Order: sequence, then structure tokens, then C-alpha cells
Amino acid sequence: MNTVNLESKIIALPKLEDDRGNLSFLQNFDQIPFEIKRLYWIYDVPSGESRGGHAYYKLEELIIALSGSFDVVADDGTKKEKYHLNSSNQGCYIPMLFWREIKNFSTNAIALIVSSREYNANDYIYDYNVFKNITK
Ligand code: TYD
Repeated sequence: MNTVNLESKIIALPKLEDDRGNLSFLQNFDQIPFEIKRLYWIYDVPSGESRGGHAYYKLEELIIALSGSFDVVADDGTKKEKYHLNSSNQGCYIPMLFWREIKNFSTNAIALIVSSREYNANDYIYDYNVFKNITK
């Protein structure tokens, strides 16, 4: 059962507007409900491609459109939410045990993923039926 941090959501990040350029930030437990263990980013996505299409047993994450735009589809096993990300000062929070997919990348989009765990192939759920059974 998914018992903690049950909802995917948009998290608004600080934006310090400045004539020299804007600045945004996030910090463990202030803007995000977890401690950061890893960052990775997705870029140079060919037109029409999508990434993700899996869930994690334990990992939580925040997905930010650092450049360009894309959609994040978050599925808790019963309902799907689609978030359109197009701003560097907002992130899409995905709890553990959510099926998530990133699609409709614009040209030159960069997705930064802020992750609560180090990479571990055993934490992935790649089979949607397994995911559905776990989240029942
Ligand atoms: P994966 O998370 O499956 O990407 P996507 O869901 O977008 O298709 O990762 C793709 C490959 O990259 C996979 O072989 C594992 C590797 N990888 C790492 O080695 N370290 C990482 O931090 C990540 C995210 C992926």
C-alpha cells in the first residue's frame, strides 16, 4: 500500500527576480519533502519520444523543466494526473509507488530530476500489471 506522501503535485519553487537574471533554488525538506541523494537530467529528446514508463518501490522525486516544456503523467494506480511543466521555478513531485511518464518534450527541453535515492535497478517496477497489483 502507498501510505506516505500520497499525492503527486506541483511544488512552486522560490523565484528571485533580478535585472541580472532570475534565480530559483530548493533545499532538503524546505521546498521538497525528502533528502536529495541524486540528480540526473534528460535532454536532446527526439521529437515524439517519451521517457519513464515505470514506477519506483521507494524512490520519490521532483521533476523540473529547466528549459523548454514537457508533460508528466502521474498515475497512482487508480487515477492519472497530467502536469504541463514549462517553468524553471516549479517542479512536479512524484511520490513512491506512482507510475510516471514524461512526454511531449519541446525542442531543447531539459528535465532535471531530483531524486531521494541513489540509482538502484531493483527499485524499478517496469511491469504495469505488477504496479497495479501492488497499489490495489
Ligand atoms: P531509466 O531510469 O530506465 O530511464 P527512462 O525511464 O527515462 O527510460 O534509465 C535509463 C538507463 O540509464 C538505464 O540503463 C539505467 C541508467 N541510469 C543510470 O545508470 N543511473 C541513473 O541515475 C539513471 C536515472 C539511469
